[in-house]
Amino acid sequence: MKQPLIRAESVSFDYVVNRNDVIPVLRDVSFSIYPGEYVAIIGHNGSGKSTLAKHLNGILKPIAGNVFVNGLNTKEDKYRRSIRQQVGMVFQHPDNQIVATIVEDDVAFGLENIGVPGEEMKERIDFALDAVGMSTYRNRPPHHLSGGQKQRIAIAGIIAMRPQCLVLDEATGMLDAYGRRDILRVVRKLHREGMTIVTVTHHMSEAAEADRVLVIESGRIVMEGTPREIFQQQEMLHQLQLDVPEASRMARLIHDQVPAFQSGLISQQEMIDEVRRLSGIRGADAG
Ligand SMILES: Nc1ncnc2c1ncn2[C@@H]1O[C@H](COP(=O)(O)OP(=O)(O)OP(=O)(O)O)[C@@H](O)[C@H]1O
Ligand SMILES: [Mg+2]
Repeated sequence: MKQPLIRAESVSFDYVVNRNDVIPVLRDVSFSIYPGEYVAIIGHNGSGKSTLAKHLNGILKPIAGNVFVNGLNTKEDKYRRSIRQQVGMVFQHPDNQIVATIVEDDVAFGLENIGVPGEEMKERIDFALDAVGMSTYRNRPPHHLSGGQKQRIAIAGIIAMRPQCLVLDEATGMLDAYGRRDILRVVRKLHREGMTIVTVTHHMSEAAEADRVLVIESGRIVMEGTPREIFQQQEMLHQLQLDVPEASRMARLIHDQVPAFQSGLISQQEMIDEVRRLSGIRGADAG
């Protein structure tokens, strides 16, 4: 078995506000993220998803328990830079993540901080902008871009740092359908090319694309499994105030009327494949 890239061991975390008001958030959370995995974290509002995400690269540190990134404990300040470089994070609000007035300067920002030399910096910026499909925008001011394009620039800034893992905390949350689609395409491509992905999302259809789903409720992991395993448990999810992907709901509905139609489907593509299977129609791509 491969070594985990990230390992959380019995992590607990409280926010302390007004000096001594303690807000307990994470309770005894343990899990591992393995290299090359695509993991989705779901849970209803306030369940602790963002707090958990911020533990993955040491922005927050456990009050009890430990988080290790490639074996480095996030509590040790001497590993801070190395850990941030290995695990990059993109947040919900595109505007808060843009620091420069020209796209390429924005992507360069993190590289300058770690002292990457000029020629290598140029290569890394080219690579990162290409990876997110934003090369032609390199000399533009980012504030004229759409939300989805800004998020792609934010992702480019992270990719330029050559992290092993990209954590997205509702990175598509502020975007319209087109912006979301663009970001998902970029994330899928990065994952295919070997990057480990952790995504926090309210969109169940996005979670359905992951290899594994963690469900969090009141700061604990309450369900864990493949998207198919998770989304088959509609009643349990309902109790947790969580939805299932639109495809899952539709598949069930059709299955109730047409029992030959499988009920455990989780994506549009699976729905299409099932219709083809039942009707004997081969796909346009099936030759
Ligand atoms: N900086 C903070 N100070 C105090 N309490 C906080 C802080 N950030 C979050 N909380 C509280 O911690 C709990 C968990 O918040 P968190 O943001 O991790 O949840 P979440 O699952 O990401 O929610 P959402 O779906 O709304 O993004 C909530 O009760 C929230 O009010
Ligand atoms: Mg959140």
